Amino acid sequence: MKALIYSTKEFEKSYLLDANQQKHDLTVTSKPLNLDTASMAKGYDAVVLFTNDDASGDVLRKLHQVGVQYVATRSVGIDHIDLKVASELGIRIANVPHYSPNSVAEHTVALMLALNRKLIIANAKSHAYQFELSSLIGFDMYQKTVGIIGLGTIGGVVADILKGFGCKLLVYDNYVKNYRTSTEQMKFVELDELLAASDIITLHAPLTDETKHLISKPQLELMKKNVMLINTSRGGLLNTVDVLEALRDRKIGYLGLDVYENERGIFFKNHFPTEGKDKLLTDLMNFNNVLVTGHQAFLTNEALTNIADKTIQNLNEWEMATPEECNAKIGRILDLDALIHNELL
Ligand code: NAI
Repeated sequence: MKALIYSTKEFEKSYLLDANQQKHDLTVTSKPLNLDTASMAKGYDAVVLFTNDDASGDVLRKLHQVGVQYVATRSVGIDHIDLKVASELGIRIANVPHYSPNSVAEHTVALMLALNRKLIIANAKSHAYQFELSSLIGFDMYQKTVGIIGLGTIGGVVADILKGFGCKLLVYDNYVKNYRTSTEQMKFVELDELLAASDIITLHAPLTDETKHLISKPQLELMKKNVMLINTSRGGLLNTVDVLEALRDRKIGYLGLDVYENERGIFFKNHFPTEGKDKLLTDLMNFNNVLVTGHQAFLTNEALTNIADKTIQNLNEWEMATPEECNAKIGRILDLDALIHNELL
Protein backbone atom coordinates (compact mmCIF):
# COMPACT_ATOMS: atom_id res chain seq x y z
CA MET A 1 0.00 0.00 0.00
CA LYS A 2 1.17 3.53 -0.77
CA ALA A 3 0.80 5.84 2.20
CA LEU A 4 1.63 9.49 2.81
CA ILE A 5 2.45 10.26 6.44
CA TYR A 6 1.61 13.85 7.38
CA SER A 7 3.06 15.83 10.33
CA THR A 8 5.98 13.42 10.67
CA LYS A 9 8.42 14.45 13.33
CA GLU A 10 12.09 13.71 12.88
CA PHE A 11 12.14 11.43 15.94
CA GLU A 12 9.28 9.29 14.59
CA LYS A 13 10.97 8.25 11.36
CA SER A 14 13.15 5.48 12.75
CA TYR A 15 10.18 3.95 14.62
CA LEU A 16 8.10 3.94 11.41
CA LEU A 17 10.96 2.51 9.39
CA ASP A 18 11.52 -0.30 11.91
CA ALA A 19 7.81 -1.13 12.05
CA ASN A 20 7.35 -1.05 8.28
CA GLN A 21 10.08 -3.56 7.40
CA GLN A 22 9.67 -2.37 3.79
CA LYS A 23 6.12 -3.76 3.61
CA HIS A 24 4.51 -0.53 2.45
CA ASP A 25 5.58 2.29 0.22
CA LEU A 26 5.64 5.11 2.77
CA THR A 27 6.30 8.79 2.18
CA VAL A 28 6.77 11.12 5.12
CA THR A 29 6.30 14.87 5.27
CA SER A 30 6.50 17.29 8.17
CA LYS A 31 3.63 19.25 6.63
CA PRO A 32 0.29 18.96 8.41
CA LEU A 33 -2.82 17.82 6.56
CA ASN A 34 -5.19 20.68 5.76
CA LEU A 35 -7.08 22.03 2.74
CA ASP A 36 -3.84 23.36 1.20
CA THR A 37 -1.86 20.13 1.58
CA ALA A 38 -4.54 17.50 0.85
CA SER A 39 -3.66 17.41 -2.87
CA MET A 40 -0.16 16.14 -1.93
CA ALA A 41 -1.88 12.79 -1.36
CA LYS A 42 -2.67 12.29 -5.06
CA GLY A 43 -1.57 8.80 -6.04
CA TYR A 44 -1.60 7.44 -2.47
CA ASP A 45 -4.01 4.78 -1.17
CA ALA A 46 -3.75 5.96 2.42
CA VAL A 47 -2.81 8.96 4.49
CA VAL A 48 -1.46 8.69 8.03
CA LEU A 49 -2.21 11.55 10.43
CA PHE A 50 -1.49 12.89 13.88
CA THR A 51 -3.69 14.75 16.37
CA ASN A 52 -3.38 18.28 15.02
CA ASP A 53 -3.95 17.36 11.37
CA ASP A 54 -7.22 18.64 9.97
CA ALA A 55 -9.41 15.83 8.63
CA SER A 56 -12.61 17.83 8.64
CA GLY A 57 -15.31 17.23 6.01
CA ASP A 58 -13.89 19.48 3.27
CA VAL A 59 -10.38 18.06 3.66
CA LEU A 60 -11.71 14.49 3.49
CA ARG A 61 -13.65 15.36 0.32
CA LYS A 62 -10.44 16.65 -1.23
CA LEU A 63 -8.57 13.50 -0.20
CA HIS A 64 -11.35 11.41 -1.72
CA GLN A 65 -11.14 13.38 -4.97
CA VAL A 66 -7.43 12.58 -5.31
CA GLY A 67 -8.08 8.88 -4.67
CA VAL A 68 -7.32 8.32 -0.97
CA GLN A 69 -9.33 5.41 0.48
CA TYR A 70 -7.84 5.01 3.96
CA VAL A 71 -7.03 7.37 6.83
CA ALA A 72 -4.98 6.00 9.72
CA THR A 73 -4.30 8.27 12.67
CA ARG A 74 -1.27 7.71 14.91
CA SER A 75 -3.33 8.64 17.96
CA VAL A 76 -5.94 7.37 20.36
CA GLY A 77 -8.15 10.44 19.85
CA ILE A 78 -10.19 10.71 16.65
CA ASP A 79 -11.75 14.12 17.30
CA HIS A 80 -9.80 15.66 14.38
CA ILE A 81 -11.54 13.40 11.84
CA ASP A 82 -15.09 13.96 10.59
CA LEU A 83 -16.26 10.36 10.89
CA LYS A 84 -19.67 11.05 9.37
CA VAL A 85 -18.20 12.48 6.15
CA ALA A 86 -15.61 9.69 6.03
CA SER A 87 -18.41 7.16 6.23
CA GLU A 88 -20.41 8.91 3.49
CA LEU A 89 -17.34 8.89 1.22
CA GLY A 90 -16.51 5.26 2.06
CA ILE A 91 -13.10 6.26 3.47
CA ARG A 92 -11.98 3.75 6.10
CA ILE A 93 -10.62 5.14 9.37
CA ALA A 94 -8.34 3.50 11.92
CA ASN A 95 -6.65 4.74 15.07
CA VAL A 96 -4.22 3.32 17.62
CA PRO A 97 -6.61 2.53 20.47
CA HIS A 98 -4.16 1.65 23.24
CA TYR A 99 -0.48 2.27 22.63
CA SER A 100 0.69 2.99 26.15
CA PRO A 101 -1.86 4.25 28.65
CA ASN A 102 1.00 4.30 31.15
CA SER A 103 2.82 7.02 29.20
CA VAL A 104 -0.11 9.46 29.51
CA ALA A 105 -1.11 8.37 33.03
CA GLU A 106 2.44 8.77 34.36
CA HIS A 107 2.74 12.23 32.76
CA THR A 108 -0.57 13.18 34.38
CA VAL A 109 0.75 12.25 37.81
CA ALA A 110 4.05 14.01 37.02
CA LEU A 111 2.09 17.24 36.42
CA MET A 112 0.26 16.78 39.74
CA LEU A 113 3.47 16.28 41.69
CA ALA A 114 5.42 19.02 39.92
CA LEU A 115 2.66 21.53 40.65
CA ASN A 116 2.05 20.39 44.19
CA ARG A 117 5.73 20.32 45.18
CA LYS A 118 6.50 23.43 43.06
CA LEU A 119 9.34 21.61 41.33
CA ILE A 120 9.70 24.06 38.43
CA ILE A 121 9.94 27.07 40.74
CA ALA A 122 12.23 25.17 43.15
CA ASN A 123 14.59 24.18 40.34
CA ALA A 124 14.82 27.77 39.07
CA LYS A 125 15.50 28.97 42.63
CA SER A 126 18.17 26.30 43.19
CA HIS A 127 19.95 27.28 39.97
CA ALA A 128 20.00 30.87 41.24
CA TYR A 129 21.33 29.68 44.63
CA GLN A 130 18.07 30.80 46.28
CA PHE A 131 17.53 28.08 48.86
CA GLU A 132 15.05 29.82 51.13
CA LEU A 133 11.97 27.56 51.37
CA SER A 134 8.98 29.67 52.33
CA SER A 135 7.35 29.78 48.85
CA LEU A 136 7.63 26.03 48.29
CA ILE A 137 5.13 24.50 50.73
CA GLY A 138 3.17 21.62 49.17
CA PHE A 139 0.63 19.10 50.42
CA ASP A 140 0.59 15.34 51.00
CA MET A 141 -1.15 13.37 48.26
CA TYR A 142 -2.08 10.77 50.90
CA GLN A 143 -5.80 10.95 51.77
CA LYS A 144 -6.50 13.72 49.24
CA THR A 145 -9.62 13.31 47.11
CA VAL A 146 -8.92 13.04 43.39
CA GLY A 147 -11.77 13.26 40.87
CA ILE A 148 -11.20 11.27 37.67
CA ILE A 149 -13.45 12.18 34.73
CA GLY A 150 -13.38 9.27 32.26
CA LEU A 151 -12.29 5.90 33.62
CA GLY A 152 -11.15 4.32 30.37
CA THR A 153 -7.71 2.95 29.59
CA ILE A 154 -5.73 6.00 30.71
CA GLY A 155 -8.04 7.05 33.56
CA GLY A 156 -7.82 3.47 34.87
CA VAL A 157 -4.00 3.60 35.05
CA VAL A 158 -4.15 7.03 36.72
CA ALA A 159 -6.52 5.50 39.31
CA ASP A 160 -4.13 2.60 39.96
CA ILE A 161 -1.15 4.94 40.45
CA LEU A 162 -3.09 7.25 42.78
CA LYS A 163 -4.34 4.31 44.84
CA GLY A 164 -0.67 3.69 45.61
CA PHE A 165 -0.41 7.22 47.03
CA GLY A 166 -3.38 6.49 49.31
CA CYS A 167 -5.68 9.00 47.58
CA LYS A 168 -9.45 8.72 47.78
CA LEU A 169 -10.87 8.50 44.28
CA LEU A 170 -14.15 9.83 42.92
CA VAL A 171 -14.99 8.75 39.39
CA TYR A 172 -17.42 10.15 36.86
CA ASP A 173 -17.82 8.17 33.66
CA ASN A 174 -21.21 8.23 32.05
CA TYR A 175 -20.57 5.02 30.14
CA VAL A 176 -19.00 2.64 32.65
CA LYS A 177 -20.72 3.54 35.91
CA ASN A 178 -23.44 0.92 35.51
CA TYR A 179 -21.18 -2.05 35.53
CA ARG A 180 -18.35 -0.96 37.82
CA THR A 181 -18.76 -1.25 41.55
CA SER A 182 -17.56 1.39 43.95
CA THR A 183 -14.95 0.28 46.46
CA GLU A 184 -13.79 1.90 49.67
CA GLN A 185 -11.02 3.75 47.82
CA MET A 186 -12.90 4.45 44.55
CA LYS A 187 -16.46 5.69 44.41
CA PHE A 188 -18.56 6.33 41.29
CA VAL A 189 -20.45 9.61 41.60
CA GLU A 190 -22.27 12.15 39.47
CA LEU A 191 -20.20 14.94 37.95
CA ASP A 192 -21.43 17.66 40.31
CA GLU A 193 -20.47 15.63 43.39
CA LEU A 194 -17.02 14.95 41.97
CA LEU A 195 -16.49 18.64 41.20
CA ALA A 196 -17.57 19.77 44.67
CA ALA A 197 -15.61 17.21 46.70
CA SER A 198 -12.26 16.85 44.87
CA ASP A 199 -8.95 18.44 45.82
CA ILE A 200 -7.55 17.43 42.42
CA ILE A 201 -9.57 16.92 39.22
CA THR A 202 -8.09 15.13 36.21
CA LEU A 203 -9.70 14.72 32.78
CA HIS A 204 -9.49 11.51 30.74
CA ALA A 205 -12.60 11.55 28.56
CA PRO A 206 -12.36 11.88 24.76
CA LEU A 207 -13.35 15.12 23.01
CA THR A 208 -16.84 14.68 21.58
CA ASP A 209 -19.82 16.99 21.06
CA GLU A 210 -20.92 15.90 24.53
CA THR A 211 -17.62 16.64 26.30
CA LYS A 212 -16.74 19.91 24.52
CA HIS A 213 -16.34 22.54 27.28
CA LEU A 214 -17.33 19.97 29.89
CA ILE A 215 -15.55 22.25 32.35
CA SER A 216 -16.89 25.78 32.00
CA LYS A 217 -17.89 28.51 34.44
CA PRO A 218 -20.80 26.63 36.14
CA GLN A 219 -18.60 23.56 36.76
CA LEU A 220 -15.68 25.72 37.95
CA GLU A 221 -18.00 27.45 40.41
CA LEU A 222 -18.82 24.09 42.00
CA MET A 223 -15.16 23.26 42.67
CA LYS A 224 -13.34 23.72 45.97
CA LYS A 225 -11.29 26.88 46.28
CA ASN A 226 -7.64 26.22 45.45
CA VAL A 227 -8.48 23.08 43.45
CA MET A 228 -5.86 21.47 41.21
CA LEU A 229 -7.10 20.91 37.64
CA ILE A 230 -5.20 18.64 35.24
CA ASN A 231 -5.95 18.06 31.56
CA THR A 232 -3.91 15.61 29.51
CA SER A 233 -6.85 14.57 27.33
CA ARG A 234 -7.95 17.19 24.80
CA GLY A 235 -7.88 20.98 25.15
CA GLY A 236 -11.51 21.34 24.08
CA LEU A 237 -12.74 19.66 27.28
CA LEU A 238 -12.00 22.93 29.08
CA ASN A 239 -13.48 26.32 28.35
CA THR A 240 -10.06 27.95 28.54
CA VAL A 241 -11.39 31.52 28.86
CA ASP A 242 -13.44 30.47 31.91
CA VAL A 243 -10.44 28.61 33.31
CA LEU A 244 -8.32 31.76 33.01
CA GLU A 245 -10.95 33.70 34.92
CA ALA A 246 -11.01 31.03 37.64
CA LEU A 247 -7.23 31.35 37.93
CA ARG A 248 -7.55 35.12 38.31
CA ASP A 249 -10.20 34.59 41.00
CA ARG A 250 -7.84 32.12 42.73
CA LYS A 251 -10.55 29.47 42.50
CA ILE A 252 -8.04 27.27 40.68
CA GLY A 253 -4.91 26.93 42.78
CA TYR A 254 -2.95 24.78 40.34
CA LEU A 255 -3.42 24.13 36.62
CA GLY A 256 -1.56 21.41 34.69
CA LEU A 257 -2.14 21.19 30.93
CA ASP A 258 -0.61 18.93 28.32
CA VAL A 259 -3.25 19.96 25.79
CA TYR A 260 -4.69 23.34 24.86
CA GLU A 261 -7.93 24.21 23.12
CA ASN A 262 -6.23 26.20 20.32
CA GLU A 263 -3.03 24.13 20.12
CA ARG A 264 -3.30 23.34 16.39
CA GLY A 265 -0.58 25.33 14.60
CA ILE A 266 1.13 26.16 17.92
CA PHE A 267 2.22 22.86 19.47
CA PHE A 268 4.69 20.38 17.93
CA LYS A 269 7.05 23.05 16.57
CA ASN A 270 9.43 25.79 17.70
CA HIS A 271 8.46 29.41 17.10
CA PHE A 272 10.70 32.41 16.44
CA PRO A 273 10.80 34.90 19.34
CA THR A 274 9.47 37.59 16.99
CA GLU A 275 6.39 35.56 15.97
CA GLY A 276 3.00 36.63 17.32
CA LYS A 277 2.05 34.65 20.41
CA ASP A 278 -1.32 33.13 21.29
CA LYS A 279 -2.68 35.61 23.85
CA LEU A 280 -4.84 33.17 25.80
CA LEU A 281 -2.02 30.64 26.17
CA THR A 282 0.45 33.38 27.13
CA ASP A 283 -1.99 34.75 29.72
CA LEU A 284 -2.31 31.27 31.22
CA MET A 285 1.43 30.71 31.33
CA ASN A 286 2.01 34.03 33.08
CA PHE A 287 0.66 32.40 36.25
CA ASN A 288 3.38 30.62 38.20
CA ASN A 289 0.84 28.01 39.38
CA VAL A 290 0.26 26.92 35.75
CA LEU A 291 2.37 24.20 34.19
CA VAL A 292 2.06 23.60 30.44
CA THR A 293 3.65 20.84 28.40
CA GLY A 294 3.12 20.75 24.62
CA HIS A 295 1.11 17.56 24.07
CA GLN A 296 3.97 15.29 25.10
CA ALA A 297 2.19 12.98 27.54
CA PHE A 298 2.39 10.14 25.00
CA LEU A 299 6.07 10.69 24.29
CA THR A 300 7.88 7.61 25.57
CA ASN A 301 9.99 5.08 23.74
CA GLU A 302 7.42 2.36 24.40
CA ALA A 303 4.51 4.44 23.14
CA LEU A 304 6.32 5.49 19.95
CA THR A 305 7.18 1.85 19.20
CA ASN A 306 3.58 0.74 19.73
CA ILE A 307 2.14 3.64 17.69
CA ALA A 308 4.37 2.79 14.72
CA ASP A 309 3.66 -0.96 14.99
CA LYS A 310 -0.10 -0.52 15.22
CA THR A 311 -0.16 2.02 12.36
CA ILE A 312 1.65 -0.40 10.06
CA GLN A 313 -0.66 -3.18 11.26
CA ASN A 314 -3.67 -1.01 10.28
CA LEU A 315 -2.23 -0.64 6.77
CA ASN A 316 -1.56 -4.42 6.64
CA GLU A 317 -5.14 -5.21 7.62
CA TRP A 318 -6.54 -2.92 4.97
CA GLU A 319 -4.28 -4.40 2.33
CA MET A 320 -5.32 -7.94 3.23
CA ALA A 321 -9.03 -7.29 3.84
CA THR A 322 -11.54 -8.35 1.21
CA PRO A 323 -14.08 -5.70 0.15
CA GLU A 324 -16.72 -7.58 2.20
CA GLU A 325 -14.57 -7.39 5.34
CA CYS A 326 -13.99 -3.68 4.79
CA ASN A 327 -17.71 -3.12 4.38
CA ALA A 328 -18.36 -4.93 7.64
CA LYS A 329 -16.02 -2.44 9.34
CA ILE A 330 -17.72 0.53 7.70
CA GLY A 331 -21.03 -0.88 8.91
CA ARG A 332 -19.88 -0.18 12.51
CA ILE A 333 -18.94 3.41 11.89
CA LEU A 334 -21.99 5.02 13.40
CA ASP A 335 -22.06 2.76 16.48
CA LEU A 336 -21.65 5.25 19.35
CA ASP A 337 -19.83 2.80 21.61
CA ALA A 338 -17.37 2.02 18.83
CA LEU A 339 -16.73 5.75 18.39
CA ILE A 340 -16.34 6.34 22.09
CA HIS A 341 -14.01 3.41 22.56
CA ASN A 342 -12.02 4.28 19.45
CA GLU A 343 -12.18 0.82 17.92
CA LEU A 344 -11.00 0.16 14.42
CA LEU A 345 -13.88 1.58 12.41
P1 NAI B 1 -10.78 5.37 26.45
O1 NAI B 1 -11.76 5.37 25.31
O2 NAI B 1 -10.19 4.08 26.89
O3 NAI B 1 -11.45 6.06 27.74
C1 NAI B 1 -12.24 7.19 27.69
C2 NAI B 1 -13.28 7.08 28.80
O4 NAI B 1 -14.02 8.30 28.83
C3 NAI B 1 -14.28 5.93 28.57
O5 NAI B 1 -14.38 5.11 29.73
C4 NAI B 1 -15.58 6.64 28.28
O6 NAI B 1 -16.71 5.89 28.76
C5 NAI B 1 -15.39 7.94 29.06
N1 NAI B 1 -16.29 9.00 28.59
C6 NAI B 1 -16.74 9.24 27.34
N2 NAI B 1 -17.56 10.29 27.33
C7 NAI B 1 -17.63 10.72 28.62
C8 NAI B 1 -18.33 11.78 29.26
N3 NAI B 1 -19.17 12.58 28.59
N4 NAI B 1 -18.17 11.93 30.59
C9 NAI B 1 -17.37 11.11 31.30
N5 NAI B 1 -16.70 10.08 30.76
C10 NAI B 1 -16.82 9.90 29.42
O7 NAI B 1 -9.65 6.41 26.03
P2 NAI B 1 -8.20 6.55 26.66
O8 NAI B 1 -7.26 5.65 25.92
O9 NAI B 1 -8.27 6.42 28.14
O10 NAI B 1 -7.85 8.04 26.25
C11 NAI B 1 -8.58 9.15 26.77
C12 NAI B 1 -8.22 10.39 26.00
O11 NAI B 1 -6.86 10.75 26.27
C13 NAI B 1 -8.24 10.22 24.46
O12 NAI B 1 -9.54 10.39 23.94
C14 NAI B 1 -7.32 11.31 24.00
O13 NAI B 1 -8.09 12.46 23.73
C15 NAI B 1 -6.40 11.57 25.20
N6 NAI B 1 -5.01 11.23 24.92
C16 NAI B 1 -4.06 12.19 25.13
C17 NAI B 1 -2.73 11.93 24.87
C18 NAI B 1 -1.65 12.92 25.13
O14 NAI B 1 -0.51 12.73 24.69
N7 NAI B 1 -1.92 14.00 25.83
C19 NAI B 1 -2.31 10.63 24.31
C20 NAI B 1 -3.39 9.66 24.21
C21 NAI B 1 -4.69 9.98 24.49
